[in-house]
Amino acid sequence: MKPTTWSPRRLDALNESQIEGLTDLLIDCVEGGASVSFMHPLTRDRAVAFWQRVAQAVAAGQRVLLVAEDAQGICGTVQLIFDLPENQPHRADLAKMLVHRRVRRRGLATALLGAAETVARECGKTLLVLDAVTGGDAARLYERLRWVRVGDIPGYALMPRGSLCSTTFFYRDLCA
Ligand SMILES: CC(C)(COP(=O)(O)OP(=O)(O)OC[C@H]1O[C@@H](n2cnc3c(N)ncnc32)[C@H](O)[C@@H]1OP(=O)(O)O)[C@@H](O)C(=O)NCCC(=O)NCCS
Repeated sequence: MKPTTWSPRRLDALNESQIEGLTDLLIDCVEGGASVSFMHPLTRDRAVAFWQRVAQAVAAGQRVLLVAEDAQGICGTVQLIFDLPENQPHRADLAKMLVHRRVRRRGLATALLGAAETVARECGKTLLVLDAVTGGDAARLYERLRWVRVGDIPGYALMPRGSLCSTTFFYRDLCA
């Protein structure tokens, strides 16, 4: 596959068309079997409601939202969650790394992760934490990009079609 240069950008506010694009992306990932908090089938109403809540959190400074686009619109996204207990001001959770099936395996998640780490540093964060399905495409990505694997919790969540899956927790020390 030809290498693609991606330019992830931060959205400080979401308009209706961006919410629609993010909704299409989330539905595509769940349709493809990704365990990203939602059960299959993910209705458009539930997906839109999720992104509207994200939009409110972004507007309130509780989350950072990054997106990447191709000719068809938003095709990748990731979030940094800053809304954490007051004794954890130095860290963020990284969540909802989503890449549309039409552009996978072209380095987009790698670019989104790099951009998220840069923004986290700019915001004064020194520690990032995330979880991913054990042994899945995402876990392989984080290990390749030198996130530290903490351990697995068997039976942590349900896959979109109902089977239990193990989850692996990772962290990234941004000072290392
Ligand atoms: C996991 C996910 C985010 C990865 O996105 P992606 O954009 O395909 O990731 P990348 O392209 O950066 O890397 C994926 C693979 O493509 C390879 N790759 C990257 N650029 C490439 C290129 N130009 N040519 C060939 N291969 C390439 C990478 O080496 C990597 O290989 P590996 O899986 O064998 O280790 C994506 O599969 C996804 O959205 N899944 C569903 C949602 C999900 O599970 N999210 C994670 C929540 S924790």
